[in-house]
Amino acid sequence: MQRVELVNNELSFSRMVQGYWRLTDWNMHAQDIVRFVEQGLELGITTTDHADVYGAFTQEALFGQALKLAPGLRDKIEVVSKCGILFPCDKQPDVRVVHYNNDTDYIVAAAERSLKELAVEYLDVLLIHRPDPLMDADAVAEAFIRLRAAGKVKHFGVSNFSASKFALLQSRLDFPLVTNQLEISAVHTDYLFDGNLDFLQQHSVKPMAWSCLGGGGVFHDFQYKALRDCAGAIAEESGASLDQILMAFVLSIPGQIMPIIGSGNIDRVRTQAASLSISLTRQQWFSLLEAARGYKVP
Ligand SMILES: NC(=O)c1ccc[n+]([C@@H]2O[C@H](COP(=O)([O-])OP(=O)(O)OC[C@H]3O[C@@H](n4cnc5c(N)ncnc54)[C@H](OP(=O)(O)O)[C@@H]3O)[C@@H](O)[C@H]2O)c1
Repeated sequence: MQRVELVNNELSFSRMVQGYWRLTDWNMHAQDIVRFVEQGLELGITTTDHADVYGAFTQEALFGQALKLAPGLRDKIEVVSKCGILFPCDKQPDVRVVHYNNDTDYIVAAAERSLKELAVEYLDVLLIHRPDPLMDADAVAEAFIRLRAAGKVKHFGVSNFSASKFALLQSRLDFPLVTNQLEISAVHTDYLFDGNLDFLQQHSVKPMAWSCLGGGGVFHDFQYKALRDCAGAIAEESGASLDQILMAFVLSIPGQIMPIIGSGNIDRVRTQAASLSISLTRQQWFSLLEAARGYKVP
């Protein structure tokens, strides 16, 4: 498995990351999660992606139970988590409306809660989950500086940020934001054209990519039929599978994008991890783009 250096000699991720957003759907007990992480490690997948909000604020604790059962796993993986989204649910009885909070005390408290739930001493990376329109960059920077000084979080990044918001927050920090986790797939190509991926490439910031398979919709939604047909034909001529071709679409974009695998099925994880060995020709890549967008490039 390729590795991606995010901070020289300090932080690297496996090129393919394992996402845990859907963990509650997988009906796994702690022992099953341990096995799943171990099988990922056999493939070279060391990086795990979490968020406080996943499973309505219940999922980090589930993963934490697995780490308690197999404490040796912690040192073999990178733990990424996110904070800043609030929504009405059992664990948030005072929340009446979905909103974001990037205030200093909120971020510090959320990170400390994630440490407790995940049963880890530190997070490798904490991401601000979504850009808060009320974000005060100095307040976020203050939270990062406090968490870093306390050894609770080693590195920081953002998710779903525009290039300008990324630059704004970076301007208040004397250490680098290590990633911007973005929705990137054949069905979501906005960041290729709005300057966001250009900005990250310019600054050598390696993006993480979420929902590379459209959250699973590419396999059945009517709106993706043309893409499915096109990817299916390329898969056939390449001796690959549909999911591998769609992962390869993301991997072909320059900038060492790290796709986050969303499947809880180890056979699919294995197949998708193997997408790294597939290279698409430019003509194949552009036909996928055309099929997904429904119009020809000019
Ligand atoms: N930063 C953010 O705002 C944000 C937002 C969303 C997600 N994320 C992260 O990104 C990760 C991946 O996102 P995602 O789960 O949406 O990824 P995805 O790969 O686009 O979708 C995963 C879904 O597709 C299904 N699937 C995968 N391969 C399949 C196949 N060959 N045939 C049929 N169905 C298939 C999976 O079902 P099975 O499990 O049954 O295989 C699962 O339901 C998440 O876990 C999370 O860590 C971040």
